[in-house]
Amino acid sequence: MSGGSLSGKVVVVTGGSGDLGRSIVERLGREGAVAVACDLSAGPGVEHCDVTDRQSVHALVARVRERHGALDALVAGAGVVERSAAIDLDPASWSRVIDVNLNGAFHAAQAAARAMSEAGGSIVFIGSWIGAAPARDLMSYCVSKAGMEMLARCLALELAGRHIRVNVVAPGVVEAGVSAQIFREAPERRAAMEEVIPLGRLADPDDVSACVEFLLSEQAAYVTGATIVVDGGIRLAHAGG
Ligand SMILES: NC(=O)c1ccc[n+]([C@@H]2O[C@H](COP(=O)([O-])OP(=O)(O)OC[C@H]3O[C@@H](n4cnc5c(N)ncnc54)[C@H](O)[C@@H]3O)[C@@H](O)[C@H]2O)c1
Repeated sequence: MSGGSLSGKVVVVTGGSGDLGRSIVERLGREGAVAVACDLSAGPGVEHCDVTDRQSVHALVARVRERHGALDALVAGAGVVERSAAIDLDPASWSRVIDVNLNGAFHAAQAAARAMSEAGGSIVFIGSWIGAAPARDLMSYCVSKAGMEMLARCLALELAGRHIRVNVVAPGVVEAGVSAQIFREAPERRAAMEEVIPLGRLADPDDVSACVEFLLSEQAAYVTGATIVVDGGIRLAHAGG
């Protein structure tokens, strides 16, 4: 194994087929980790896992431990977005978003924590800058990501004694994935976002994966219960909107 910052670490990445998930898997791999991507459908280099299904999540963690002898970290990146005005929001849509983004993060984190409870480890949730800023037509998504931040802090508190660190990376507007979906449905949002981002550009997936790598590495050995916002400063200038 190369001498990267994550040399030999076995890391599960949920949502590993997505735009950010692929970037995270590639970066962790470059740093020497055994990064196991999992997503709704299996494919080359991707394990099947539906994070809304506890059995599926626990089976994946068991397979990874059997195959690689350990689990050292989890990146909980599976996520979905559905747009609707709050007043018209279909309860089934609300439940779908909460089920994947929040309940799925809980199932994955609990399965990983149980697997890491003796040797220790690290969990990184992929939150969002709008987990702390209300955004129009995205209520279920905002609430799911806000809940995820509290989930991370509660877990960080309870798991510290087991040497498991738990943190959140909260991306701003990334040129990919769920934002690309929102821009397809509401193209005016893109220009509005670009205009207000103080650093003058949308995020690149690698801006996000760099912070994930940091939080998983020994450089962050004393960091737990934290949220690192990777948003080019947008939260300073814009309240979600
Ligand atoms: N793109 C952005 O601007 C942005 C900003 C902030 C946060 N995020 C977060 O980053 C994460 C990755 O999003 P992305 O932008 O790469 O989107 P994406 O749609 O490309 O990736 C999301 C992945 O999650 C998977 N997924 C959905 N439901 C699942 C389930 N039940 N079980 C397992 N996997 C499931 C999808 O199949 C997909 O591959 C999400 O949590 C998202 O909320 C993205």
